[in-house]
Amino acid sequence: MIESTGDGRTWVLSGPTSGYAIGLTDADELLHLHWGPRIAVEDAEALAAQAPPPYRPFESPLDGHEEYPVEGGPRFVRPALSLRTPGVRGTEWSFAAAETDGDELRLRFTDALHALGLTLHYRMRDDADVVERWVTVAHEGPGAELEILRADAAVWTLPRRDSWRLGQLHGRWAAESRLVRAELTYGEKIIGSRRGHTGHQHLPWVALDADGESTEERGEVYGCALGWSGSWRIAVQHLPDGQVQITGGAGHDDSGLLRLAPGDSYTSPVFAGLWSAGGFGGASQAWHAWQLARVIPDAAAERPVLYNSWEATGFDISEERQRALARRAAAMGVELFVVDDAWFGARTSDRAGLGDWTPNPERFPRGLAPLADEVHALGMDFGIWVEPEMVNPDSDLYRAHPDWVQHHPGRTRTEYRNQLVLNLARPDVREHLWRQLDQLLGSAPIDYVKWDFNRCFTDPGWPGEEYPQRLWVEHVHALYGLLDRLRAAHPGVVFESCSGGGGRIDLGILSRTDQVWTSDNTDPLDRLAIQHGFSQLHPARVMAAWVTDSPQTQLNGRRSSLRFRFVSAMAGVLGIGGDLTRWSEEELTEARGWVELYRRIRPLVQHGELHRLRAPGGGLSAVQFLRGEETVVLAWLQAQHYGEPPPPLRLRGLDPAAAYECLESGAVHRGAVLAHQGLHTGLTGDLDAAVIRLRRRSS
Ligand code: DGJ
Repeated sequence: MIESTGDGRTWVLSGPTSGYAIGLTDADELLHLHWGPRIAVEDAEALAAQAPPPYRPFESPLDGHEEYPVEGGPRFVRPALSLRTPGVRGTEWSFAAAETDGDELRLRFTDALHALGLTLHYRMRDDADVVERWVTVAHEGPGAELEILRADAAVWTLPRRDSWRLGQLHGRWAAESRLVRAELTYGEKIIGSRRGHTGHQHLPWVALDADGESTEERGEVYGCALGWSGSWRIAVQHLPDGQVQITGGAGHDDSGLLRLAPGDSYTSPVFAGLWSAGGFGGASQAWHAWQLARVIPDAAAERPVLYNSWEATGFDISEERQRALARRAAAMGVELFVVDDAWFGARTSDRAGLGDWTPNPERFPRGLAPLADEVHALGMDFGIWVEPEMVNPDSDLYRAHPDWVQHHPGRTRTEYRNQLVLNLARPDVREHLWRQLDQLLGSAPIDYVKWDFNRCFTDPGWPGEEYPQRLWVEHVHALYGLLDRLRAAHPGVVFESCSGGGGRIDLGILSRTDQVWTSDNTDPLDRLAIQHGFSQLHPARVMAAWVTDSPQTQLNGRRSSLRFRFVSAMAGVLGIGGDLTRWSEEELTEARGWVELYRRIRPLVQHGELHRLRAPGGGLSAVQFLRGEETVVLAWLQAQHYGEPPPPLRLRGLDPAAAYECLESGAVHRGAVLAHQGLHTGLTGDLDAAVIRLRRRSS
């Protein structure tokens, strides 16, 4: 809901529990007034009428209070907007108009010197406390081209508190989304990616809680998350007077995003913000609900249990081996069978074939259709792996078009994993990829595409192009365009975003893919921490998790039971990635039981409300999913010490007066007892795990 004052210069946006207010001063400066619990328009007016901050030498009264600080004029904070116009750097904006369109508010400004338009967009839906913000910069001509050095999507302003704690999700390949929280000190904290993709190093998200007081269940939490799958930057600024502002958008450096000719415009990605009074858990639940309702395509559909052949076969694949795996997967209850890398071109190792998206004639002499048909006959959907943005120098595509890759003339073309990045900003490259992929999806009954991206940008050159810098932004738009076009042309096909594991996870890619590959790290213990971090922002409905072989050969040699591996992966979208041809009959039978159990709890895991009962970290950790009359607890014990049984788990969200029956043991517990005394898991020893289901009894 959007309300404004009679003079049309103060606005309040309201969600179910929170409110956001902004107002124009007499000098047309747009100031931030409020972000927190819901307030009335009169409250916003009163806030606007408060005395401005006292004059202080060497400081600007605008700093820390403006809704969208730009470069130019009396400001010393990091500008969200920086434009280079002929002979002048910086802008000066006058308010032009406000427009409300359903749940979107648009505030339009013009620059006095140049024919420029700036629109700040705000959207807050009635069913969510998330404020979506983005900007549009338009060259309203005539005149020379202008260069956008930076145009952040939004600047978020927090209320004054004694101190703030900053939460972030950091990592690297095979160790993504690890949560850290630390006090925010004065100055700037910058996270981002200058790699061309979202990156494994940080999820584009921050969370701040005041005075380090919030817990999983209680306290105020402010969160901001960016929807952009290229290079990006979020800067959290703790200003000298204690104000905190968070600015974020596309691009890491301020070295240029795009040039605009008269008539052109740039629309930034969305930078979403959320205030929650429900602690870290409440904030996550609100983020999850909003993504399921508004971001993720077809989110109401349950994601099937998949099998992926990568860890079993690597590059050494054959149709026969895939058939053998498919038969075993089907017998286990798997619903989607995915052939990973190496089905195409001359791809017998990572040295060749990327770019040639036709089945390898020796491996699949009759194409993919016969295997897809067999997989369908076994009762499963059929999926394939692709990495369309890349090319191996040893490929037909590169031999035909060596100029189609990002490169600087006369310089080394840096190879990572023996591959180069195609310049998707080129229309001919985009069109070629569209034709190849469209044909591929038409060539066999393919239901699912795992879309990978396995190296960063290193040589972002574009010979012959006057402003090669634009390829950073245009690559992402081209990727989005391709996905959108493929989805429209092949509506039954489901897409997974992968980038060497979790290198491309953000709200932008999630608005056009159905799930993401969380990490190449499939060690079930490491995964608990990765999943704990991931769940801060994103729902289990998109978090793919596989059960692979033990010992874990790829990373650490750890041995773990099938039980532990399954229960770890069952906290997300369950998949299986082990070499099933080497699993014993007992293991296959046990696995079938776990898959069956997962299918029973899947509605809760994928669409229920998540409660993180205990964080991973040495001892007992657990999550609880709640939906309607049912709740399920997934618990893991890393190591037991001194013969002590692990502490009981205090469940959340239950009706204290109701009785709940444990579907595992038949025991009946009162909601109040489960919440206060807790539930005993019975876990012992090392790497033990359990799934405990409870159903409310009708009284
Ligand atoms: C990286 C992915 O994360 C893996 O799951 C697998 O698909 C490989 N690429 C294949 O090259």
